[in-house]
Formats: sequence, C-alpha cells, structure tokens
Amino acid sequence: MKWFLRKWFWIVLAWFKAVMNKPLDIPVPQAGQTLITPVPMRKAIPDLPIDSIVVCPPAQIPADERSASKRLFYDLQVRLYKSFSPMQAGLPSISADPDVALRGAYTWLHRRKFGPPVLPAEYLASPELGALAVRGPYACYTKKGADGRFEWDLLSLAGHEHHEGLLRLGAKVTFEIDPTQRALRAVRIDSVLGTSAPGDNGWELAKKLALCSATTHMSLVRHFNGVHLAGSAPLAIATRNHLPARHPLMRLLWPYIYATAQSNDTVTRGQMLPGGDFDTVFSYTFEGTCRLFDASWHASDFGMNDPVADAAARQVIGQGFDTPTEDNLAALFKPMHEHARHYLGLYYPHAAQGSGTEGLREDAAVMAWLDELNRLVPNGVGVTSGQVTLDRLARLVASCIYLVSAQHEILGGFLWNYQLWTHRQPIRVYASGEPEPIDVYQRLVNANYNLNVERRALIHDFSYLAVDELGRAAMQRFCHQLEGLQTAMEGEPWAVWKLYPRELKVNINA
Ligand SMILES: [Fe+2]
Repeated sequence: MKWFLRKWFWIVLAWFKAVMNKPLDIPVPQAGQTLITPVPMRKAIPDLPIDSIVVCPPAQIPADERSASKRLFYDLQVRLYKSFSPMQAGLPSISADPDVALRGAYTWLHRRKFGPPVLPAEYLASPELGALAVRGPYACYTKKGADGRFEWDLLSLAGHEHHEGLLRLGAKVTFEIDPTQRALRAVRIDSVLGTSAPGDNGWELAKKLALCSATTHMSLVRHFNGVHLAGSAPLAIATRNHLPARHPLMRLLWPYIYATAQSNDTVTRGQMLPGGDFDTVFSYTFEGTCRLFDASWHASDFGMNDPVADAAARQVIGQGFDTPTEDNLAALFKPMHEHARHYLGLYYPHAAQGSGTEGLREDAAVMAWLDELNRLVPNGVGVTSGQVTLDRLARLVASCIYLVSAQHEILGGFLWNYQLWTHRQPIRVYASGEPEPIDVYQRLVNANYNLNVERRALIHDFSYLAVDELGRAAMQRFCHQLEGLQTAMEGEPWAVWKLYPRELKVNINA
C-alpha cells in the first residue's frame, strides 16, 4: 500500500508537469541587462559540493526569465525528496519481461500525454553494438583508436563511488570493420569483468555493462554536464553580458539562450541534489556523482557541437563502413551553418566580400563575447578574438544553435526509445544478476517522460526578433530550410534512430 501511494503520487506529479508545461513565449530582448558574475556551484547551491563548475548565482537570474511558479514547484519537489521520496528501499526487481516491466511503470495516465517507447531493431535480440556504433545516440562515442581499429572508450567512468551491490561502470569496446557489410562488429570488451570476446561466457554481461556505461555517460556527462552546464550556461551568460539588446548577433542568438539561467537553476536542484534523479537512478552515489561532474567539467569539449568537424576528429567518415547517424547529424547542421553564414554576411558585408575580418574585429561587443565564451567554456570554443574570421564565427554560431537544439535533443528526449529498455541496456548492473528494483525503474520512466514535455520548437517564425528587414527575411529563410529538410526526410522511411528537424526544440529550457 505504501509503495502504491508513493508510486502514484510521483506519477501524478510527472503527469501534472507534462500537462501544465506550455511552450515558452520568447520576448524581444530589452536594453539595460544587469551583468551576471558566475560563481562556483557550491556557492550558488550550498548542498552541492562542486567547485570546478561555475554557474549563474540564483540572485542574478535575469528578471525577464524569472518564474516564481516554476521555482516554487521545484522547491516543493526537492523538499518532497526528503519527506515523501519516490524511492523505497527493499522493493522487488522489475519483471525480466520488458513489456510487463514497462506496463507496470508506464501507466494509462502517462500515455494520455505521450506515446510509449519504440524498441530499436538493435535491441530485438542480444544488443548489436556494431550497429549502435553507427546508428542512434551512441554513435557519438565511436572513434578510431591508436591501433587503427574503432572503439568506445568509457573506462574513465570506473573511478567514482558506486552504490553497493553494483558492478563498476567503465568499458572499452573494440570494433572491427566488416567490409562486405560496410558495418562495424564488436570484437572485444574490457571492463571490470576483464577482457571478453564474442562467444565467451561473460560476453552478454560485458555488453550490458558497456551499454549501461554509454547511457550513464550520455545522461550525466554529455547531456547535463556538457550541454546544460559547460555549454548552454556559459553561452547564455556571455551573450547577455556582452551583446547589446539591439545587436544583430544578440537577436540571432536570443531564442537559443532565453531562460537558460532560470531553467538550469531549477533542474540542477531537481536532479543533482541528494535524493534527486541522478543519485537515485544511476549507478553512482551522491558523492560519486559530484566527483564525476567535477572531472567531466574539465574534460568538456565544445567541439562536439559541430557534428561534421567532430566526426572528422574521431576519424569515422570514409573508413569503409556506413555512418547513417553522422550523415543525419551533418544534414541537420547544414541549414544551421548556412543560416549563420548568410545572416552574419548581411551585417558584416565587407568581411563577407573581403578577407573575412573587415568590420568584424572592430566590433568590440562581439570580441568581448568571444573572450568571455573562451573564459567560461571549459577548454574554450575553438575560436578566439585573435583569430576570428567571418567563416569561423559562422561555424561557431551554427554550433551554438546545434548545441541547444540537435545536441540537446539526441542526448535527452531522444533517449526515450533507448533508455527505458533496461533488459538490453540496464540503468544499473547488479552483481546479483537481478534487474533494477521497481522504484529505480519507475523514476527512470518518470524522468524520461518529463524530458519530453511540450517545448518551443526550433521550426518557428522568430523573425519578430530581427532588428531590420534583412534579418527578418534571413530568419524566415532558415525556418523554410528546416521545413524543407523535414519534408525531404519524410520522403524516406521513418526510423527510430533518425533525428528529425521537427523534433528539435529552440533551446534547452522547459
Ligand atoms: Fe536537458
């Protein structure tokens, strides 16, 4: 009875959030912004002992994005973690039958707002790691290794405190090319189980550990640390601090950054505080999660937001195997890049026709924006005020759009069809061999459900933000190009691993 009440209380809360959430209306930026001075996370949120990460202090959240109702709702939710936690010790494991497990946790109430997950073909039988290395969210981990073979290297996950009874995360998967199929095949996994190869007794368990490592890394390191904290937050701060309200670059970037400080503050509390989603769902204790975030911050790579350059750096293109996800992501990046180049060319016509710097390096606001970005984003953004050209700036701006739309989606809402299938891809690997307890699975379902609340789409007419007719036409042109790509993709068969322009949201904020 106790679990029944607890379970339904939190399901109703998740459903209520989904029902109440309406796409953000994005106002025109106003002059007279107050400066944001980022502080270590420990100072902004005293119960989070993390010093490396810097965030916008709660008192400096810009007035135009403050939301008392959202803040109150999250405060209540965090207080409930202590007084009526969604977790209950000693519950049995979920059914080994994935449909039974899903039916138990994903109820009729959830389904009124959002459809059930689709099972990817790679999970129909024993997971096909080779297919997942080129199709779907985990393709981002595939890179060429020193020995010329391909790999996922997730070994660094082993070094942080885990909950009791779990196998330690961390895995390195080695892939070889199957030239006749133009595909990759997993041939070896190194993990806490030792070295495993196909046909070994421990191979299936090693695969689960590898996928658990990949999905944990994706949610905690790439999504929350990489996109929310190390990417979007500094972008929002630098943009508000340095670009005047009527600056054309400010108007271009505005829908992508609006409400980031407010939203990050609330979701950081809801997920990272003790008893939040992270330490109750994933393998790490609260202490382990904090140290993982400390370490991940220093290792962040903003370059992941240029999918073309990122795939080239990982050396996965033109290697004798097909790369459908890289092709999909490059196709999404293309209109973003064209839009940034076209729009910036309108406002820096001399740079567009000359060597790429005329009129640009004299723009003190943009130079200060770049300097602050490089100061705040761990390991910088790859373009500095000293070497910026119009082409480099356009690529960076396109990466900013990609970061908050495509990157955020593929690491977040898109995992709906992957992360809930824990019979193939566990969220925790228990040494006993048991599946996850029902409270852990329920919370995983609810958290993923809330990642899919209705939000402002990227394909939307933002031309009301433009400073003049030129900007207005450019913004509408971008919208049409995205619609054109959507139509072209709809001409091909639908697939669960494909990311569609219509699925993209304009920023990371609920
Ligand atoms: Fe997110």
